[in-house]
Amino acid sequence: MAEVPPNLPHPNQPGEPAPGPISAAAGNPETAAADQAAGGTTVDPAIAARATAPALEMRAISKRFPGVVANDHIDLSIRPGEIHALLGENGAGKSTLMNILYGLLSPDEGEILLDGAVVEISSPSDAIARGIGMVHQHFKLVPVFSVAENIVLGNETMANAVFLDVRRSEGRIRALSQQLGFEIDPEAMVGDLSVGIQQRIEILKALYRGAKVLILDEPTAVLTPQETSEIFLVLRRLAGEGTSIVFISHKLNEVLEIADRITVIRRGRVVGQADPKTATEESLAEMMVGREVSLVVDKGPASPGEAVLTVEDLTVADDRGSIVVAGASFGVRAGEIFGLAGVAGNGQEELVEAINGLRKVTSGRVVLGGHDVTNDSSRSLSERGVAYIPGDRQRFGLVLPYPIEDNLVLTEYYHAPFSRFGVINERAISKRASELISQYDIRTPSGGLPASTLSGGNQQKVIVAREFSRDLVLLVADQPTRGIDVGSIEFIHRQIVAKRDAGIAVLLVSAELDEVLELSDRIGIMYRGQLVAILDASTAEKETIGLIMATGRAEVPA
Ligand SMILES: Nc1ncnc2c1ncn2[C@@H]1O[C@H](COP(=O)(O)OP(=O)(O)O)[C@@H](O)[C@H]1O
Ligand SMILES: [Mg+2]
Repeated sequence: MAEVPPNLPHPNQPGEPAPGPISAAAGNPETAAADQAAGGTTVDPAIAARATAPALEMRAISKRFPGVVANDHIDLSIRPGEIHALLGENGAGKSTLMNILYGLLSPDEGEILLDGAVVEISSPSDAIARGIGMVHQHFKLVPVFSVAENIVLGNETMANAVFLDVRRSEGRIRALSQQLGFEIDPEAMVGDLSVGIQQRIEILKALYRGAKVLILDEPTAVLTPQETSEIFLVLRRLAGEGTSIVFISHKLNEVLEIADRITVIRRGRVVGQADPKTATEESLAEMMVGREVSLVVDKGPASPGEAVLTVEDLTVADDRGSIVVAGASFGVRAGEIFGLAGVAGNGQEELVEAINGLRKVTSGRVVLGGHDVTNDSSRSLSERGVAYIPGDRQRFGLVLPYPIEDNLVLTEYYHAPFSRFGVINERAISKRASELISQYDIRTPSGGLPASTLSGGNQQKVIVAREFSRDLVLLVADQPTRGIDVGSIEFIHRQIVAKRDAGIAVLLVSAELDEVLELSDRIGIMYRGQLVAILDASTAEKETIGLIMATGRAEVPA
């Protein structure tokens, strides 16, 4: 396709300038020149420019939202070519600070200096013009567009209504990605690519616009360990060429691995700097949370009872109709944690969705406490005492525009005391909500605010609070701690073990092998849709599990 009409649909980026019908080449002369010369050049202006990344300083930045001081006189300085990690609990104020740097929010107080001069960054276009690029926590790519269209389209650099020449940019995108040490097919449709590749496209998109300072807001939250290592290679290479990188994560091991310097934020304030050469995961956790945190799960042996959940020869198809779970059979007993390990995308997600009534079973049976519940609705399962913590919490777990209070009773609102004779009792809902908010330490100024205002970890706590506070027989937890900080992970792990000890059957799915190993009593391993092994967690070796996850077999073929 040589021409793209100017009125294409567009990713909505809240707060960013309204998308206009425009030309990639016209907005940014540097980019335009590079596009013209695409394919043949050896030194891309975007690469060359990065060698001169400015020193960046944020001084005494404050930002208040109703009921909360998100940033309280934060100082942050970034050196040219360094990877600077910003570490903090969910809701500490990291994204707010970076949104200020990227011109998405304006600070109430404080100033930003680039190479010693005070600058005003009033919009993302401003930020981009000054060489600051940002990759957001949630991807903003358009799945039905090609890689090149996504990189070139996107808003900011485009200024007037001329036709886009995507083809011409493809050469440049290829060249840029090769210079960074990874290959991307500019013609591929983004929706067909893995999240790991999509993440690289987001990085490429920022670099394409000439970013010399690159902000990555929790880039690894949704990546597999393998994808994370690959992104780290890219980041090291970029830093080596002079790009300054602000890396946000709450994964302590990652921060220790990648960062040159670490700044820790707690409740809107800088609580200190740490040197990755001397810091430990324990010391960082304590700085983040403000108290000692146990990074290992404290649990005694299980005393399992009768089978609660029995899955018999279950076959499940994905949205396109391909079989992704092929004949899985296993049981989960009362008082045990059965962990499903596997590289993401080996059928775990679909298996759990099928068990929870969110996906049709092709064949086989799901039996709960003696009742055949195959293809029962999630509401009916919930009534039978099944709790579900979904992997995709924004899709299944919460109604984001609804108040936090309502989200806390979402699976129960149609029962007394929350409603009687069809009439909702607001007072009862409010009361229960405030109990749960304090018991589960959900950080919000008010339960009346929409769930969308909560940070990711606090959204997860809302789901956990709601699901754990009912009478349960089975708890299905899919990635229960994904995107959550260490303090909350410790809390959720304790709750899961407490449920087990109270005699509830627990089915755990996690992409974090360490989490499966630490929590589970038995471990099932999924490989290409099949449950290829079931091991006793107390004797299973991590290496063996890793090998089975990677190959489907315990021994490497000769
Ligand atoms: N647009 C907003 N409106 C109201 N409150 C917000 C908004 N954005 C963030 N907050 C609040 O500001 C605090 C810091 O949030 P955030 O910067 O997203 O934290 P982090 O990125 O460290 O998890 C949180 O209490 C959050 O609920
Ligand atoms: Mg954030």
